[in-house]
Amino acid sequence: MIDFNRRIIAPSILAADWSRLAEEVRRAETSGADWLHLDVMDGHFVDNISFGPSFVAQIRPHTRLPLDVHLMLARPDHYVPRFVEAGADHITVHVEAAADPAATLQTIRGAGCHAGLALSPDTAFDKVIPYLGLIDILLVMTVRPGFGGQAFMARETMPHVARAHQIRRDLGLAFHIEVDGGIDATTVHVAASHGANVMVAGTSLFGAADMGEAIASQRRSQI
Ligand code: DX5
Ligand code: ZN
Repeated sequence: MIDFNRRIIAPSILAADWSRLAEEVRRAETSGADWLHLDVMDGHFVDNISFGPSFVAQIRPHTRLPLDVHLMLARPDHYVPRFVEAGADHITVHVEAAADPAATLQTIRGAGCHAGLALSPDTAFDKVIPYLGLIDILLVMTVRPGFGGQAFMARETMPHVARAHQIRRDLGLAFHIEVDGGIDATTVHVAASHGANVMVAGTSLFGAADMGEAIASQRRSQI
């Protein structure tokens, strides 16, 4: 049984200094990170371009942390095998992008990875309902995907988290509820109070002078 009361902190490498990538990965691991979050953006599904499978493969030997790969791609189904090959542990696709989410999620699980499904703030929660039995992670975007450093959208997205939490309990399902975007020492508590248990944070962790202290404060259950 997964203990959803145990908070998982996942620093997002998007906010790291890529000129010192291996060092930044080690900084996250020694600071107490649980997962490392990797944002893949293609300039089509979102208006930003980040990195691809070879970047993920270069990170792989530098950490034992699970690599939590978030695909913001117009054709996630086409690219999933390359991220499996690169060493991803978790692969999350957007419900708005996957042509056939069920088939894509099954491909991910069939490759031995955890399968995640993401929804953007403006997407109706009902869109993910048919797939909740097929996933290990529901990624509720708490900003519009594409860029780090945006403000947390509580009003639009906390109802998604609360609904996911309720449905998971009602149906006896077992997926993590992950939030991504604008998470810091204050908003982390808002997300947790609605039922999120995995916190992705880029700017507030990699931008911290002491990442260990920043992670510890996001892990604490009280402000
Ligand atoms: C945004 C990405 C996030 C981003 C979060 O599209 O999915 O993972 O790195 O960055 P912060 O924590 O700076 O909002
Ligand atoms: Zn992300």
